[in-house]
Amino acid sequence: MRQHVNPLSRNFDQIERIPSLHEMFNDSELNLHLDIGCASGEFLFDLALVNNDWNYLGIEIRERLVKTAKLKSLEREMSNLYFVFGNANNILNDSRSKFLLKNVKSISFNFPDPWFKKRHQKRRVIQPDLINNLSNLLKKGSVIFIKTDVKDLFEYMDYTILNNFNFKKIDKKDFNYSESFNTNQVKTNREKYVIVKKMDIFERIYMKI
Ligand SMILES: C[S@@+](CC[C@H](N)C(=O)[O-])C[C@H]1O[C@@H](n2cnc3c(N)ncnc32)[C@H](O)[C@@H]1O
Repeated sequence: MRQHVNPLSRNFDQIERIPSLHEMFNDSELNLHLDIGCASGEFLFDLALVNNDWNYLGIEIRERLVKTAKLKSLEREMSNLYFVFGNANNILNDSRSKFLLKNVKSISFNFPDPWFKKRHQKRRVIQPDLINNLSNLLKKGSVIFIKTDVKDLFEYMDYTILNNFNFKKIDKKDFNYSESFNTNQVKTNREKYVIVKKMDIFERIYMKI
């Protein structure tokens, strides 16, 4: 399967309508977590099955993965899980998504594509504009999680987020996972692979202040 999709391709200029929280979830009042670049959504299925007091929304740019995840979610009658197809940047920067960011409690960027070459860095999902938008719309106390096995990408994401003074770093040891979207610290597929290969994982948690 083709792994990398150019998010700047015109194919992603049009974004699909994001349903209201009532349409997506059985109980729209639950805490909402957003996973960016969720691939086939297995991480979110694992979470949504055990954490009934959270709603989970995955955004993924590979359409086939989203279609399959949506079908699986319907078959399993998951009422706290939903998937949206598209470039997360275009989706989250669109004014029609304001309601999402205003309601979200936390967002994860797990092992985003590194786009190593300098000329391809605009394809990275974390961009200053996106962070600005998150800083304007997220409620105080909302949390962003980043994880990657690429040190340069970690440094880039960390710099981009902390360049915005509305976000501060939270020390992992001071973070209370039991109240988070991921109480059992479930691992993503890429994370499992990285652990087996004994590669480094760079991660950080930020809070909107
Ligand atoms: C390396 S995979 C990691 C998947 C998963 N988060 C994990 O940790 O196993 C990165 C995923 O992000 C998706 N992706 C990359 N850029 C994206 C974008 N701009 N918007 C939405 N998804 C994106 C890719 O298609 C891919 O599925």
